[in-house]
Amino acid sequence: MIPGPTPVPEKVLQALGKHPIGHRSKEFQKLVESTTKNLQWLHQTQNDVLTITGSGTAAMEAGIINTLSSGDKVICGENGKFGERWVKVAQEFGLEVIKISSEWGTPLNPEEFAKKLEEDKRKEIKAVILTHSETSTGVINDLERISLYIREHGTALSIVDCVTSLGACNVPVDEWKLDIVASGSQKGYMIPPGLSFIAVSEKAWEATEKSDLPKFYLNLKSYRKSLLSNSNPYTPAVNLVFALDEALKMMRDEGLQNIFQRHNKHKLALSNAVKSLNLKLFADEKYLSPSITAIETEEIDAEEFRNMIKNKFDILLAGGQDHLKGKIFRVGHLGYINDRDIITIISAISNILLDQNKITSQQAGDALLVASKYLKAD
Ligand SMILES: Cc1ncc(COP(=O)(O)O)c(C=O)c1O
Repeated sequence: MIPGPTPVPEKVLQALGKHPIGHRSKEFQKLVESTTKNLQWLHQTQNDVLTITGSGTAAMEAGIINTLSSGDKVICGENGKFGERWVKVAQEFGLEVIKISSEWGTPLNPEEFAKKLEEDKRKEIKAVILTHSETSTGVINDLERISLYIREHGTALSIVDCVTSLGACNVPVDEWKLDIVASGSQKGYMIPPGLSFIAVSEKAWEATEKSDLPKFYLNLKSYRKSLLSNSNPYTPAVNLVFALDEALKMMRDEGLQNIFQRHNKHKLALSNAVKSLNLKLFADEKYLSPSITAIETEEIDAEEFRNMIKNKFDILLAGGQDHLKGKIFRVGHLGYINDRDIITIISAISNILLDQNKITSQQAGDALLVASKYLKAD
């Protein structure tokens, strides 16, 4: 139960095991036609959604190098490891970064974005770049409000990492007018790592005409041109595309609202059960990500706790990153996750706490009752 790679359904695994086919064949073109249509459905957009062979970071980098130019001024939201990554990518390509930061575990303050954008009378800010669901801390940022302020600015592009929010909660790309949305296959998509996705608005395509940053493999214009014939500019990871097609069909069968509801109830069941076990949630409770719950273990080293869960129950959890190592552990609950998984991880956490004499068996039982209340809420 790490926040990616996430569990892969049997049907998707079987699709991966098929013999590869030629990527210029009619059969493959049909597949790309189907995945493209379903990717647009998932993103709730009419914009182009391109598939890149490469991990989520490839789509993040592509978003920057295709729409911006050396020396451009951008705002980067930073409240965790992946916000930091945006800053690193932007600086690597010579952009002038204005950071809007908040402490890890707390959300970015949309009003700070409003203020900076409002002050930019000369329209020098070319893009606002941020992470929607911050996987390192389990915080979800208020993208809806921030995107509203970006629209009010008028010219700045929104470039967003939706790697652990897309396919877990509502990301209506057209309604929020998001210009670049990056995501990766090993998360809500329920397929192995190796593909990334990038939704590109018309406004972002216009920006590509002026962009002077170097690019070749990640030049999105090549992907757009190929997509006109349901093709790819280079040899794609054909078997991952088989898997993608299967996974997207499963998602369509479940329905967007049901997917969001399932993630929400799992978040509520786990977070409330954890609190009843006297453990603290690391993230601000009003901004809990639907995909990851970060838990503080004040008296026990979080890495030790994680190892105990692994050794006793063979459940892998994620640790804290950077200064949070040993202070928190993170439970991933995105993608192919069901109620049983949630009950199992709560029981495993309770069992370790019982072994350590940190809780009573009454508390362990109560935590499951708390969780059941939320799991029933369909
Ligand atoms: C929020 C977020 N952004 C970006 C990434 C980077 O994706 P990748 O490791 O696929 O390059 C991750 C991966 O965990 C992530 O969780």
